[in-house]
Amino acid sequence: MIPLRKSFKIHWQIGIVLGFCLVFVIGLSTFSLAEKTTITALIGPDTTGFDHTVVNLFEKENPNIHVELIEGPHSTDAREEMYIRASEAKESPYDLVWCDIIWIPPLAAKGYLLPLDNYLDINQLYAQHFKATVDGSVWKGKVYRVPAMSDAGLIYYRKDLLAKGGFSPPETFDDLISTAQKLQDPARGLWGFVFQGAEYEGLDCFYLEWLWGNGGYYYDPKTRKVGIDSPEGIGATKLLVDLIYKYKITPKDVLAFQEEESRHFFQNGKSVFLRNWPYVWILANKPDVPVAGKIGAKPEVYAPGQKPYATQGGWGFAISKFIESEKIPAAVKFARYHASYKIQKLSVKIAGRDASMRAIYYDPEVLKWNPHFAWLRDVLEHTRWRPATPIWPELSDIMAKYLHKAMIKELTPEEANKEMAKEARRAVKEYWGE
Ligand code: GLC
Repeated sequence: MIPLRKSFKIHWQIGIVLGFCLVFVIGLSTFSLAEKTTITALIGPDTTGFDHTVVNLFEKENPNIHVELIEGPHSTDAREEMYIRASEAKESPYDLVWCDIIWIPPLAAKGYLLPLDNYLDINQLYAQHFKATVDGSVWKGKVYRVPAMSDAGLIYYRKDLLAKGGFSPPETFDDLISTAQKLQDPARGLWGFVFQGAEYEGLDCFYLEWLWGNGGYYYDPKTRKVGIDSPEGIGATKLLVDLIYKYKITPKDVLAFQEEESRHFFQNGKSVFLRNWPYVWILANKPDVPVAGKIGAKPEVYAPGQKPYATQGGWGFAISKFIESEKIPAAVKFARYHASYKIQKLSVKIAGRDASMRAIYYDPEVLKWNPHFAWLRDVLEHTRWRPATPIWPELSDIMAKYLHKAMIKELTPEEANKEMAKEARRAVKEYWGE
């Protein structure tokens, strides 16, 4: 009897201990499950792995938050459309959205973004970031986005080929055209100049640089005037068309090029010049890339008597108006973390992004990887805006549609710009009722 009772006692004691452990483990996991917040974020394709790296770092530092990244298509228009569709249904499949600077007026005016004024100090933002990236995060006095990246169009060139031929980097449209004509050899796969020529926002960004550099403008949101049917406007469209058919320095392939296609074309050694954003520098200089170490970058080209213009681009996280309220603190935390100095610096290193914080451009380590950041900061201080208006999505589609019609020779440059102006004026009138 005694041994039996003794073993029973031991089992009973072990049972109590195990019971306690079980209660403890169940309690702990219920507690952490209850505490773990999952937030979703709509981003572009994570081609460099940068976004996933940031999420891993963030989750290590914030074990109670899980960030689910949803990678949308490359084109900014297509992702804006995805976000608009979800917001029209008052749903939040994307608690956070990696938000293009040009989406703020339309999305904020429609009430699809959460104002962040309670969570951000606007003066501190202005003290740390390029002014345009903060201005571009504000709509009617409220902040809707944490700026993390600026952007400005640049001209990339093959330093080696220019040096061999005794050419300086081009200043004017004519310089670029004549240098490209002399250096290219299309029969052997080397073209003169490529850019973003597909029918989307990227084409408009490039075209506006040449339009402004030619003395023209599209739409002035202050006066609500459309000026694209001016001789300068028609002249800029003619230049684009002539690149393909008259000067023959641009292959027809550009009609399907977005940023990535044009980058690959250039970095595979297939063109002398490229118009693209600053991110190309680091990626085209990776050791396994054919043109690594052979490229230069400079501000845009322009007409004689004019000056170079760079379209202001840029990105940062915004938060959906339809997010569940208990998720807001986690979403704000992630948006701010993503825009912190540490992460912006990492974004330069891994993804070649042009950070929105000025101090990054003076960081000795960054200047070692990206020597052109020394002059890029000046370009970023002097960018020009696409019209900041709630109807930009319509105006942008109209512009890209008619540019394409001219570039495939369905319309002459004059016809294309006249139609563009007519439709743009109609869109302005419909929205403002004037
Ligand atoms: C870049 C810019 C963005 C622009 C887009 C067009 O990502 O930062 O502002 O809309 O290119 O393709």
